[in-house]
Amino acid sequence: MLIEENQPLARFTTFGVGGPARWFVQAASEDEIVAAAAWAQERKVPLFVLGGGSNLLVSDAGFDGLVLRVGLRGAVRAEDSDHPGQMIYRVAAGEDWDSFVERAVRDRCAGIECLAGIPGTVGGTPVQNVGAYGQEVAAVIERVRVFDVKEQAFEEFSAAECGFAYRRSRFNSTDRRRFIVTRVDYRLAAGGAPTLRYAELQRAIDTMQAGGAAPSLAEVAALVRRIRMSKGMLLVEGDPDCRSAGSFFKNPVVTEEEAWQIAGAAAKEPPRYPAEPGYVKLPAAWLIEQAGFPKGFAMGAAGISSRHTLALINRGGAKAIEILTLASEIRAAVEKLFGVSLEVEPVLVGF
Ligand code: EPU
Repeated sequence: MLIEENQPLARFTTFGVGGPARWFVQAASEDEIVAAAAWAQERKVPLFVLGGGSNLLVSDAGFDGLVLRVGLRGAVRAEDSDHPGQMIYRVAAGEDWDSFVERAVRDRCAGIECLAGIPGTVGGTPVQNVGAYGQEVAAVIERVRVFDVKEQAFEEFSAAECGFAYRRSRFNSTDRRRFIVTRVDYRLAAGGAPTLRYAELQRAIDTMQAGGAAPSLAEVAALVRRIRMSKGMLLVEGDPDCRSAGSFFKNPVVTEEEAWQIAGAAAKEPPRYPAEPGYVKLPAAWLIEQAGFPKGFAMGAAGISSRHTLALINRGGAKAIEILTLASEIRAAVEKLFGVSLEVEPVLVGF
């Protein structure tokens, strides 16, 4: 196991921002994860686990501890003998998420086709309960294998034990930093139909098919990639709009009463997502635009994507502090106009 010193972290993140890791190690096996965690514990050094770096903002000072990059690879598939037609994919945490989606779609297994084109690794998906275009990984996760840093032992959790909610799990809330995900098992439906729940996706399908045959999983995945591309939410080399961490804020959930007041303050009805009875989820992007921050907004090297208001971007050589300053200005403006406090979505490291 090679522990490197002062490794720049910016290149391991999609934002391309941030200082170095005091120590850095890549783990290619569970044994190496155990050894790296022990190394940090012996030296009483904080440990941070890095996956694909697609949902992170690293501070300019970097991380004064050990950054462990999870490089475990491999994916196997087996039919669930108790549920014919259902496939269990056991996927190592370091596998690229989008390649796995591609494989599942190729195998004609349904459940993650709307999650095509999302950057990052498999290990990150249960942590923030990745979701898009009408699907969430919580619905297909069968089991999550983790290394418990506190107890120094491996453990496996069922989906119910993961505490999933919108962009949330026990791994990023109550048990933050306690577990290192090493493997995720997904239950997918062989020969299943695609999920067409998201209005924008449904509309695009309707236009494409014009009343024809039901779309295949591959068609839906391709369409999702196209929509993500049009929003700068697909990683494309040289595209400054995707030098981001995806959505920088969560979509706030408010009461019907608050939604009504927001409509008053904006003098128009906000678009809304369904939520629990009595509540509405509002698009943060819309609130931000109403508060005076349009697409393409620039503040020094930090900015807002020219294709999606919810993505803060590094316009080139941005410092983390510039991104955070822009984020606080946006939060303050939304709070002032609507009384809604936006929650930051990506993980902040070293602040
Ligand atoms: N909107 C604007 N301006 C924009 C973009 C969107 O006003 O520039 C408004 C529109 O009314 C639009 C609505 O926001 O109809 C929703 O936009 P979109 O469909 O792009 O979804 P989102 O709420 O902005 C969420 C997720 C994304 C996910 C998409 C699709 C969160 C925080 N973000 O974005 O996830 O890809 O839905 O399901 O829940 C991420 O988490 O990093 C992420 C990219």
